[in-house]
Amino acid sequence: MKGIILAGGAGSRLYPTTKVYSKQLALIYDKPLIYYPLSTLMLGGVRDVLIISNEETIPHYRNLFGDGSHIGMSIDYAVQDAPNGIAEAFIIGADFIGDDSAMLILGDNIFFGNMEFYYDAVESFQHGATIFGYRVQDPERYGIVEFDKAGKVLSIEEKPSKPKSNYAVPGVYLYDNRVVEIAKNLEPSARGELEITDVNRVYLEKGELTVEIINRGVAWLDTGTPEALLAASNFFGVIEERQGLKVACVEEIALYKKFITRAQFDELVASMPKSAYRDYLEKLELE
Ligand code: G1P
Repeated sequence: MKGIILAGGAGSRLYPTTKVYSKQLALIYDKPLIYYPLSTLMLGGVRDVLIISNEETIPHYRNLFGDGSHIGMSIDYAVQDAPNGIAEAFIIGADFIGDDSAMLILGDNIFFGNMEFYYDAVESFQHGATIFGYRVQDPERYGIVEFDKAGKVLSIEEKPSKPKSNYAVPGVYLYDNRVVEIAKNLEPSARGELEITDVNRVYLEKGELTVEIINRGVAWLDTGTPEALLAASNFFGVIEERQGLKVACVEEIALYKKFITRAQFDELVASMPKSAYRDYLEKLELE
């Protein structure tokens, strides 16, 4: 399965910071935001990743991750010229996806906690689409799924003014290869974007949309505003300080997932500037 991180968007709610750098590079406690969705892909076993962003920001991602080989990944980059919508990622990424299935994760989506729901979905994924449902108190802001009592999906709507449920669709999506053709055939929505919700609706109409509900206790954090960035930083600051374990530490995950050997890991750590991050990795002993 190929992975795509969509790290575009104007980030206008974070102006003036986003005048000089993209939201997904903002610091969440001790590392850039994009480390969190990249970790999610890595923990899902995805090693081929395409990062899509605007032209000015791609050099920064290249600086951060290069070709990804130091963490046992293959990382590519592609430009989204204008904020034409999430589903455009599959058109931009068509060659990268090739004949494979694809997992898309939005560059500003953070997941933390018991991720069994996700590992199970990735492991059992064969065809169609699998998305998730997460209870929120402000459903007007998201793609929303409606179910019947048996858990069957009845509808999916983007930012409904009268939401039919409190279940938002987080920004991690699994699709079979047909997603590329589906994206190519979409019409832009009223806000002028190729909507991911419209892709999901096509799968729903084919009877091939699976929605897995995320248990309570899992954190799905939003990072679109200064308040949300601070809350996420505090959240990860508290948990990391308490346990002495880092969240979304891509080098640690690469070692844990055996994407790299211990020798490669040691060499990588030795190349880092002196920092708390390096100290942590130097002392790391995986159980
Ligand atoms: C997008 C999607 C929406 C989804 C959300 C998750 O919203 O359109 O369906 O629930 O991401 O973060 P946007 O970021 O464009 O407001």
